[in-house]
Amino acid sequence: MTPLKALGGTSDILPDEIGRWHALESTARRVLDLYGYREIRTPLIEEAAVFTGSLGEAAEIVTKQMYLFQDRGGRQVVLRPEGTASVVRAFIEHGLDKTGGLTKFSYMGPMFRAERPQAGRKRQFHQLGVEVFGSSSPYQDVEVILLLVQLLNGWGLTGWQLKLNSLGCRADRLAIVDYVRTELTPHRAQLCADCQVRLEKNPLRILDCKEPGCQKLCGGIDVAKAICENCRKHFSQVTEALQRLKVPFERHPHLVRGLDYYTRTAFEVVHGDLGAQNALGGGGRYDDLVEQLGGISVPAIGFAVGLERVLMAQEANRPAAAAVGDGPKVFVATVSAAQIPNGLELVEMLRANGIAASANLEDRPLKRQMEQAAKANSSGIVLILGEDEVKQGVVMMKNLATGQQVKEPVGTIIEKLKLA
Ligand code: HAM
Repeated sequence: MTPLKALGGTSDILPDEIGRWHALESTARRVLDLYGYREIRTPLIEEAAVFTGSLGEAAEIVTKQMYLFQDRGGRQVVLRPEGTASVVRAFIEHGLDKTGGLTKFSYMGPMFRAERPQAGRKRQFHQLGVEVFGSSSPYQDVEVILLLVQLLNGWGLTGWQLKLNSLGCRADRLAIVDYVRTELTPHRAQLCADCQVRLEKNPLRILDCKEPGCQKLCGGIDVAKAICENCRKHFSQVTEALQRLKVPFERHPHLVRGLDYYTRTAFEVVHGDLGAQNALGGGGRYDDLVEQLGGISVPAIGFAVGLERVLMAQEANRPAAAAVGDGPKVFVATVSAAQIPNGLELVEMLRANGIAASANLEDRPLKRQMEQAAKANSSGIVLILGEDEVKQGVVMMKNLATGQQVKEPVGTIIEKLKLA
């Protein structure tokens, strides 16, 4: 039988790696809490219309990357390729569009896109995202960007760049499309084959074509040239406030994002150490989407960060982070099999006092146990129980890093470990 394997572009996250995920997630929860976000968990599968009706007919996610299938009831369903459309669907379904005020959601979880797998590009990947409904203030845009920056800082990332642009309002979109088409039509023959089709269907997609020839032709294009006065004012309030708050950013006149729902402010964070898939995260305003999906008109803004890419960037930034929070902290070893029940009692007492611990439960030499402890024990502390220790009501506390060992009464061991 051919060995069974995880599908290409999907991966197992093994216990050795999970500590880094937990660290990432708990930092994120702390920062999200500070900013007043509350978690929403939406289903991983949705009716296809949630995405086909929002991301844009010509968006690559819709045309090429959706895991779309018919379920047993004959419905067209999709494994969610992103979180925004699902959150908007839930926001409308639960009548939250009619309650007024500000609603701030966060989410973390797997997304699915049938892309060609490569470093940093997976078919099942994880996003942390936020969506804010009910404010059209430019300062809401700034606060959302500040949250993104605080997350990146909290994860210890340096060397990223924030790229910013404005895509204008719904009416401006037609003007932008016209502008880009007019600029590029004289150069149609030099565009790649895909972009020649895009020129008719959706010229904005040409701006994020990776072909060097197409990029060169787009050189002089600045989409913000085609936006209205109100949108221009909104954008300058955003950029001025970011400057005032000393958030470093770069104006990126071609940034249009790969999804069609964006309006006004759009942004992306890229990281130099990620290779070809260099976007850590991205987002922007989508003031028309709630109405487009059947709700009343509510302005909104959000972003999502790719967590696999955050881990890759962390590794590049500080490889030592790999050890964070991995495995039990204390190991209980026993000199002979007779002390295993005492060891079990001790390890349970440690856990009951909030100390992560594991114990030897096999009849095997102390030397082998110490090897196991060295591998699995992130704090490097081993508590050894032999016949004498059990008789005296003490444990031998050994620090694997220094080799030092001292006898401690069982009654005070918890206190000692909390200080260690
Ligand atoms: P997105 O730019 O499509 O935006 O994805 C956000 C991030 O998810 C990317 O910057 C990247 O880090 C990660 N990502 C995307 N595709 C993959 C993949 N195949 N493998 C690994 N990581 C990937 C959105 O999804 C929008 N919903 C963001 C948003 C929220 N806009 C407003 N609110």
